[in-house]
Amino acid sequence: MLSFEITFMDFLLEHQERHGRTYHFLILMNSILNAAKRIQHYYLTGALHGNLGLSGCLNVQGERVMKLDEIANAVVKHYLARSGRVIYAVSEEEEDIIPMNASGRYFVYYDPMDGSSNIPHNLPVGFLFGIAKRNLEGPEDGHLRAGQDYIAAGMFVIPTGTFTIALKEAGCWRFNIDETMNYVKPTRMKLPDDPKTWELSFNSAHRDYFANGVREWLEENEKKYQFRYLGALAGDFHRILTNGGMFLYPAIVNHPDPKKNYPQGKLRLMYEAAVVSFMCHEAGGEAVDEDGRPILSIRPENLHQRTALYLGSKPLVEEIREKLNTRKNIR
Ligand code: AHG
Ligand code: MN
Ligand code: MN
Repeated sequence: MLSFEITFMDFLLEHQERHGRTYHFLILMNSILNAAKRIQHYYLTGALHGNLGLSGCLNVQGERVMKLDEIANAVVKHYLARSGRVIYAVSEEEEDIIPMNASGRYFVYYDPMDGSSNIPHNLPVGFLFGIAKRNLEGPEDGHLRAGQDYIAAGMFVIPTGTFTIALKEAGCWRFNIDETMNYVKPTRMKLPDDPKTWELSFNSAHRDYFANGVREWLEENEKKYQFRYLGALAGDFHRILTNGGMFLYPAIVNHPDPKKNYPQGKLRLMYEAAVVSFMCHEAGGEAVDEDGRPILSIRPENLHQRTALYLGSKPLVEEIREKLNTRKNIR
């Protein structure tokens, strides 16, 4: 018995047609899918071609760059430019904004390979992207957009081959890659209400350095939930979207070596935190920063701005938000 699944492109074409939208977004998404498949290929064959190591360079954040970070960045840049639909792109791997097509309609914010420490192990990494629309009518209001202005945001878990995308006010959807390299079988993602599957995900090595309110919340609550941490936001958030719970990457404020504090948090707002927060919001969840502000409301002041992140099921994010609000000055 033959069976044929709905592909992501079928899904998107129907969506665009139903809402009387232009074809420009389809062209952009087609390029993003091409980029993801190409990254998937380089990742799967990385060990064979000696591409799993360090490139010998440091990126804008002063972090060591893996060869695959560079390859993935070049791939995404190529396909975005080729789409002809992107005016500017912002990449984790590049200090400056990347000019593309003067007549492009979209800004794209991306992390071509998130969770690089998993690369040498061939374990999951992510390709994260957020898309905002250029102001085509009034005066251009720039590329520093808050997450609430994104029209879509998504992530590919590589090499697992799952693709999750949220379209503004149209839900969060997951697709799986099939044997023909198509992303198929749209499944609507909704964070589960029942706490029995909820999980917590954070780097426990840092717990002593979190703000007092966060430590307090963990002490009171962490035993109620399963704990899972992969070290790649895409993979960790993938689980939370399915099982519910909370991913947290708090600010580090109590380190005995002040140089090791990250009062701004570690994750980058535009192409990491806002991307997953947008998806989480469309799946019925919530995301806040260290001051309890909704991540989606933060308008960045610079391209590589960092933020703390508390992301997931509303009741948990609300609980910790109260601690953040009441305790934010006590460190
Ligand atoms: P990147 O590899 O793009 O620099 O980002 C890694 C991020 C994110 O994916 C992950 O959740 C977090 O850093 C892990 O940080 P720790 O190693 O400090 O746990
Ligand atoms: Mn990253
Ligand atoms: Mn990266």
